[in-house]
Amino acid sequence: MHDHGLIPPHGGRLVDLLVDVGRAARLKAEAASLPQIRLGDRQQCDLELLAVGALSPLAGFMNAADYRGACEAMRIRGNLVWSVPIVCAVDSATAERLDEGRRVALCDDADRPLAVMTIAEKYRRDKPLEFDKVYRTSDPAHPGVKVTQAEGDVCLSGPLEVITPRYDPEFADYRLTPAQTRAAFRSKGWRTVVAFQTRNPIHRAHEYITKCALEIVDGLHVHPLVGQTQPGDIPAPVRMRCYEALLDNYYSPDRTLLSVWPAAMRYAGPREAILHALVRKNYGNTHFIVGRDHAGVGNYYGTYDAQRLFDEFDPAEIGITPLRFENTFWCRRSGAMASDKTTRSTPEERVSLSGTAVRDMLRRGERPPVEFTRAEVADILIEAMRNG
Ligand code: ADX
Repeated sequence: MHDHGLIPPHGGRLVDLLVDVGRAARLKAEAASLPQIRLGDRQQCDLELLAVGALSPLAGFMNAADYRGACEAMRIRGNLVWSVPIVCAVDSATAERLDEGRRVALCDDADRPLAVMTIAEKYRRDKPLEFDKVYRTSDPAHPGVKVTQAEGDVCLSGPLEVITPRYDPEFADYRLTPAQTRAAFRSKGWRTVVAFQTRNPIHRAHEYITKCALEIVDGLHVHPLVGQTQPGDIPAPVRMRCYEALLDNYYSPDRTLLSVWPAAMRYAGPREAILHALVRKNYGNTHFIVGRDHAGVGNYYGTYDAQRLFDEFDPAEIGITPLRFENTFWCRRSGAMASDKTTRSTPEERVSLSGTAVRDMLRRGERPPVEFTRAEVADILIEAMRNG
C-alpha cells in the first residue's frame, strides 16, 4: 500500500487508463467506425484526470450508484469519501441511439478520438440534485451551474481505454501525472509536501500562506488549475508567466515544485475543496492549503464554509491534512502579512483591494501596491492586459 513512504492514493491504488502504443493504434482505427461523442471542455478535462489516475479510485466516468452517492452523501463505493460527480453526459437524443453494451469513441473539439468506452450503464442525470447538493444554488449566473446546465441530461458509464489524455497539451513540461509528481517528491527526498491549488496569479496573500505552510513541511507543490475556467479569470498562459517569475525570484528552488493541474474549475466552494484535497493526495501531497472562500465565486459560499466541511469527516478518511488559513492581508501596523489571528490592526491599517479595483489599476497600466502583489507579477499582468 505504501509508496516508499509516500501517502497512499485515495482508495489505495493509482489508476492508469492509458493503453500501450499498439493498442492505441488499434483503438484509433476502431474509433473511426464507432459512434462519436464530442466531449465538452469540462468532460475533456475530467477524462484526462481519469486517464492519469488523478481521480483514483475512479477508473471511468461514474455509474448511477456512485453519482447518487457522491451528490447526496459524498460517499461512493459504499463508504469512500467523494464530493463531486464526474460524469460523461450526452443529450437525450444521442442517448436514445446508444444501447448498453455499445462501444463509443469519446472525442475532443476537433473530433479526434481520446478514448473508447463500452457503455455498461445509461442513466438520467439529476441536475436539480447537483445544484442543491454540490453547488448549493441553481442560479444560472453561477459559472459551475451554467456549465452543468449546458451539459447533457443522460450519463454514460462503463470501462474506458484511453488513447491519449490530450492531443496538444499546453505546458507539456509542467503537466506532470500523479506518478510523476510522486517520483519527483521521492527523488527530492520530501516526505511531507503541501499542495497549493490556485486559479489566480500568486499575490502576496497567496505567497504568504504558501510560505507559512512550507515552514512546517519538506516541500511546496504549487499546483495551479489550468483547465476550464470562467471567462474573466486570468488565462493560464499569463498566470504561468506570473508563477515562473515569482518562483524564480522569491521561492527556494530546493523546496518548491511547480506543475500544472489540467482540471476544470467548478466553483463549487466547499464540495470542490474536498475534491481538490483528495486529488492532491493522489499526486502524493500530504498537506493541502484551504484558505478563505476556497474554490468559491461571488457570494455563494461563506468565507470558511470549505474549511468547515473538512470537519464533517474523520481525518483518516480524507487522508491528506488540510491546512486552514484565515483571510490574510498586508498589515501596516506590523509591516507584515497578517490575519485576524496575528494582528490587532484596525481596518484602516490593512491593505485590502477588491478584485475589481486591482483589475482597473492594471488596465490603466498602474502597478498595485507591492504589499498586494510583487512588481514582477504586476508587470506581466499589465502587459497581458495591454495585449489582450
Ligand atoms: S481558488 O478558486 O483556487 O480557491 P484562489 O486562486 O484565489 O482561488 O485561491 C487559492 C487558495 O488561496 C485557496 O485555498 C484560497 O482559499 C486561498 N486564498 C486566496 N486569497 C486568500 C487570502 N487573502 N487569505 C487567505 N487565503 C487566501
